[in-house]
Amino acid sequence: MSRAGYERLPMHTVPESGSPRSRSRSRSRSHSHRLSSTCLRPRTFITLLKIAVPLTLLVIFGIFYLYEPHVEIAFYPREWIHREIDPVGRLAGCFDEGRISPSYNASKYLEGPKKTEVHAGMGMRLGMDCYEFAATIPPPKNMDSGPYLPPDERTQYHTYWRVDLAPFSERQEWMLKSFFATQDHTTSRLIMWSNGDLSTNPILALYANMYPNSFVMRVVDTPDLATGTALEGSSLLKTDDKKAWTDGDLVRLLVIWNYGGVWIDMDSLLTRDLSPLLEHEFVTQWDCYDKIYQPLNGALMHFQKHSPYLCEAFHIMATSAPPRADSTDWGALLYLKLWRRLLGGHIPPFKILPFCFSDARSCRLDNRLPDPFDGDGGKEARWWRSKKDGLQEGGELDSALGSVFAVHLHNQWEKTFPKGGWVDRLLLNRYEEKLSKREGVDDL
Ligand SMILES: *[C@@H]1O[C@H](CO)[C@@H](O)[C@H](O)[C@H]1NC(C)=O
Repeated sequence: MSRAGYERLPMHTVPESGSPRSRSRSRSRSHSHRLSSTCLRPRTFITLLKIAVPLTLLVIFGIFYLYEPHVEIAFYPREWIHREIDPVGRLAGCFDEGRISPSYNASKYLEGPKKTEVHAGMGMRLGMDCYEFAATIPPPKNMDSGPYLPPDERTQYHTYWRVDLAPFSERQEWMLKSFFATQDHTTSRLIMWSNGDLSTNPILALYANMYPNSFVMRVVDTPDLATGTALEGSSLLKTDDKKAWTDGDLVRLLVIWNYGGVWIDMDSLLTRDLSPLLEHEFVTQWDCYDKIYQPLNGALMHFQKHSPYLCEAFHIMATSAPPRADSTDWGALLYLKLWRRLLGGHIPPFKILPFCFSDARSCRLDNRLPDPFDGDGGKEARWWRSKKDGLQEGGELDSALGSVFAVHLHNQWEKTFPKGGWVDRLLLNRYEEKLSKREGVDDL
């Protein structure tokens, strides 16, 4: 440090003038000053920090007070984008004249008039917009009044439980209760698929007994279900591979191909009769943010039996690299590839249900459903409490739940619904009420 710098140091620096003694003292002091001067440099720095830190915090606070920051950072390997996303493949011809299965009525499903609109045309991220849009779809008239259809002629609903994942218990039973409380049991049938025998499970045996025409359990035989598809005989079907992907993502496409109908993930609670949606073939939106490479989700989907959409999906699966373990290669990524191929082939694509229809948890803190396992006390619940009648019966949350079709719980099988919380009051209690009223009504 320069002498000037030294002189400018604030404390103890005024040299005593006068006697040699004092001078020498001064000299010795100046030595000590030199030492202390190196110590004082960080002190100045600290003084500066004392001003700068609060000032910066104040500026940041001011910016956050005035502005709402929206930041999402994701890293996608360029090589993967180049290989998997960019190329739009060619359709395999499943929509060609003469190649559509006779069990698929193309003039009805592809070109027929529709009563309801499921595409809003924009993201509906603000406030209650998505819920209000869901409410524009009217409920069916005369639910549960028949005619009682034979099981095979009913709308087929499919779900899947892996016996090796967890025992089928009360928490899983809520999905069944939600199904029978919200869907028309005279015209619907739920097929509970599994990778092992579930018929001895006491809960499931009860439902099989109670609803002989609208509930059935089946064990998945993948090679058999794949007969007649592009995946027939493929080594990709090897079921001894216990990875998640050969399961859920593949099973849902195969069972819908064979039986037609709706796929519902087991970790869902249905809130409304799905039948008004079923004039459309659809998957759902991943979340309200429309992730560019992952916009689609298959937790709830509907296709007709032998749908050419699924035929094309099987072709993509059969001709692409094998799916990576625990990836969405046969899920979200497959639907995106298919959707883009359809556009490329000038075929009207399948529909995409808005996020809130089945997964209203996948949006912003201030308009998504409260955490189902937090009861009424969570941070999202606070926003709903600020609305009309909060989380009470007849309130805004109740009305939102009555507009959407399902609540996706994203597994979390280890958790239970808090007693007296919103899920308990607005959904579970009502399922029980509805089902007890129906008791004694034969499932003919
Ligand atoms: C296909 O659907 C249309 C419209 O609903 C119907 O008029 C026609 O009879 C159906 N065709 C077949 C082969 O079932």
